[in-house]
Amino acid sequence: MPTITNIEDLKRLHRRRAPKMFYDYCESGSWSEQTFRENTSDFDQIRLRQRVAIDMANRSTATQLIGQDVAMPVALAPVGLTGMQNADGEIKAAKAAEKFGVPYCLSTMSICSIEDVAANTSKPFWMQVYTLKDDDFMRGLFDRAKAANCSAAVITVDLQLLGQRHKDLKNGLSAPPKLTPKSIANMATKVPWGLEMLQTKRRFFGNIVGHAKGVNDPASLTTWTAESFDQSLNWDRIREFRKMWNGPLIIKGILDPRDAIEACNVGADAIVVSNHGGRQLDGALSSIRALEPIMDAVGDKIEVHLDSGIRSGQDVLKAVAMGAKGAWIGRAYIYGLGAMGEAGVTKALEVIHKELDTSMALCGHRDVNTVDRDILMVPKNFSGDWS
Ligand code: GLV
Repeated sequence: MPTITNIEDLKRLHRRRAPKMFYDYCESGSWSEQTFRENTSDFDQIRLRQRVAIDMANRSTATQLIGQDVAMPVALAPVGLTGMQNADGEIKAAKAAEKFGVPYCLSTMSICSIEDVAANTSKPFWMQVYTLKDDDFMRGLFDRAKAANCSAAVITVDLQLLGQRHKDLKNGLSAPPKLTPKSIANMATKVPWGLEMLQTKRRFFGNIVGHAKGVNDPASLTTWTAESFDQSLNWDRIREFRKMWNGPLIIKGILDPRDAIEACNVGADAIVVSNHGGRQLDGALSSIRALEPIMDAVGDKIEVHLDSGIRSGQDVLKAVAMGAKGAWIGRAYIYGLGAMGEAGVTKALEVIHKELDTSMALCGHRDVNTVDRDILMVPKNFSGDWS
C-alpha cells in the first residue's frame, strides 16, 4: 500500500482503479473546463498569514453546521453515480462520514437508494433533491427522506438542465455501464472493481428506477435529466418544496447575491455557494471568488457554506476565514472512495482534518470558530470589478 499524504495521492489511485468512464465523470467540468480549473487555482491565489509564539495547545476543529455538531466544518457533497466508483459507494461514504463526525449528503442521482443508505447507517444523513417535473416523484422523495430520518434536505438549484461534459458523451456514460468493446477492454483492467461490482445488486440509479415515471432510459444520465428535470423551476416552485419539507432546508448552487437573497426569502436555513464543481455554467466565477459579495449581501441573515474547489484542509480554512460556516467536499472524497472504498473516504477526511488543524494553528488559532478574515492575504480586487 503506498503512503498516502494528500488528496492528490488518492486521485492517482482512483484513476488507476476505477473504470475510465467513471473517473472521467468525476474529473470533468463543462465545455472548456475554465470554471472547473479556476475553482482550485483561485484558492491558490489566497495566502495565509503566519503568526508565532501564540499558544496552540488543545486545539479544536469542532463546530456546528445548521445546528448539528460536526468534528470539522466539512460536509460530504452529493455526488451522482458514487456507487459506480466503488461498489455500494454511497453506503461506504456515509459510514466513513458518520464515523468521522461530519454530515453525508446523498444525491438524488445516487446508485444506493435513500432506504439502502438509511438501513446501513446509524446517524441521520442529508438528502439532496433535484427538481423533477413529476410532482408525485417530488412528494415521494421528500416523504422518503422523512421516513429515512434525514436531518436536512438540500435542494440543488443550478441543474435544471445538464451542462455538457465532453468526456461523458465520448465515453457513453451510463449506470450500469453499457457493454461495448471499448468499455469491456477498459473494465478488464479493473479487476478488483469488477469483482466487487459483481457482488452487489446496486448498479442502477436507486432513487429513480421504480419511482419516477416516463423515463425512457434511466441508465443514461443525459437522457433522463433531459426528459425529467423541471426546466421551468422558479422560486415559487421552491416555496412549494419548502412546504413539502418542514425540516432544515439548504439551497445549493448559489453564485449571485440576488439569488442568495431569494433563498433567504423562501425560508432556507443555509445556502451553499457553488458552481457545481465547474460542471454547469462554464465561464462562471469560481466559488471562492463569488463568496465575499454573497457574504456581504446575506452573511448576517443566513448560514453560508462553500462548495467547489476544496482539495485540502487549507482550502477549508480559507473558506471559513472568508465567512463560510462550512465547506463541502465532492471530488476530494470520491478520489478516496475510488482508490480504497470506505477506508479511502476516511483517509481523505483525515488528510483534510490534519491540514486544517495544522494550518489553523500556524495562523495563530486554537479553535476553528475564532478563525476570521485576518488570517488571509487576499489579492486586491479578488472578487473582481466586473462590468
Ligand atoms: C450531477 O450532479 C452531475 O453534476 O453530474
